Amino acid sequence: MQNLGVAITGSGSAVPATSLHNQILSEVVETSDEWIATRTGIRQRRLAVPSESLSDLATAASSQAIAASGIKPEDLDLILLATSTPDDLFGTACKVQAQLGATNAVAFDLTAACSGFVFGLVTAAQYIRTGVYKNVLLIGADILSRWVDWEDRRTCVLFGDGAGAVILQADKSDRLLGFALKSDGTQNHHLNLAYAGTSQELLPGVNITKGTYQPITMNGKEVYRFAVQKVPEIIDKALFQANLSVDQIDWLLLHQANQRIIDAVAQRLNIPEHKVISNLAQYGNTSAASIPLALDEAVRQGKIKPNDIVATSGFGAGLTWGAAIFQWGR
Ligand code: ACO
Repeated sequence: MQNLGVAITGSGSAVPATSLHNQILSEVVETSDEWIATRTGIRQRRLAVPSESLSDLATAASSQAIAASGIKPEDLDLILLATSTPDDLFGTACKVQAQLGATNAVAFDLTAACSGFVFGLVTAAQYIRTGVYKNVLLIGADILSRWVDWEDRRTCVLFGDGAGAVILQADKSDRLLGFALKSDGTQNHHLNLAYAGTSQELLPGVNITKGTYQPITMNGKEVYRFAVQKVPEIIDKALFQANLSVDQIDWLLLHQANQRIIDAVAQRLNIPEHKVISNLAQYGNTSAASIPLALDEAVRQGKIKPNDIVATSGFGAGLTWGAAIFQWGR
């Protein structure tokens, strides 16, 4: 029998040990615990120290996910690393492959900012559904503390560092019940981590550009408006595809950007508070890591149990947004 369904069979996560509370942050920029907590729900975030790399965090989260699903690194066919902050712009997935000893896996990075994990989930599922691969490791990991302007209080208070990972496996029953993905590049300017350089003359008449990526810029109000409008819509779409109604959802697991966004989306969808997963008070917005990090915590706390139906949605730079409805476990 062909196993062309997809099951998510294990999770893992890793965060740096260093934690920065709002109160301490208010010694760095003009802000307060009260402002940050009431506007965002964030109280602290983890920060990678200079000796910590993205590949280290990603590998630690992946090792846990591999163990949880009961496979070995050599069983992996594909490693997808969703990140916007690779150690190396050429990609970091291969380094993770080497660190894990996943000798049979092809590995590459995937960039879709805070939507990266959901986009990666759908991408991984396609390889499994077509019968090409059986065991896929999907990682969401970001170290945005290296790319925020620590003098810009409008952005630096929001982000934190971390990694989360899941194993997707071929299975008789398909547990990815529905999904929908969207992009709107016309709104790209609202959230950027853009390259900027200056023109330099290489030879007479031949100019090249020298520069680097610049810290994050964000129009918070526009991103907020976009999230609160688009996320409920896309979850509805994914639910329609899954032939499920909102009340059949056991857990709402959104990208952890802002508690006010999470609450507004839950309210619009009529999902009660006890079904909403939130851990951003401890970690802030960890971008591509936020969904698998919260998923892993909820699984380990015994909240999300096998067969529970999870509605997840990522949204962010691009602009990109997406939703996936899945049934946890095998
Ligand atoms: N501490 C104290 N005051 C602050 C801070 C701060 N950290 N930041 C801004 N302020 C001030 C502003 O200067 C402004 O003061 P003013 O009125 O005197 O000019 C006032 O607070 C209000 O600022 P706003 O920007 O209007 O605050 P807002 O209520 O919009 O909240 C926030 C800002 C929290 C960023 C909100 O807009 C938001 O969460 N947006 C969504 C961001 C998001 O979810 N991004 C996800 C994608 S991330 C990705 O893809 C990488």
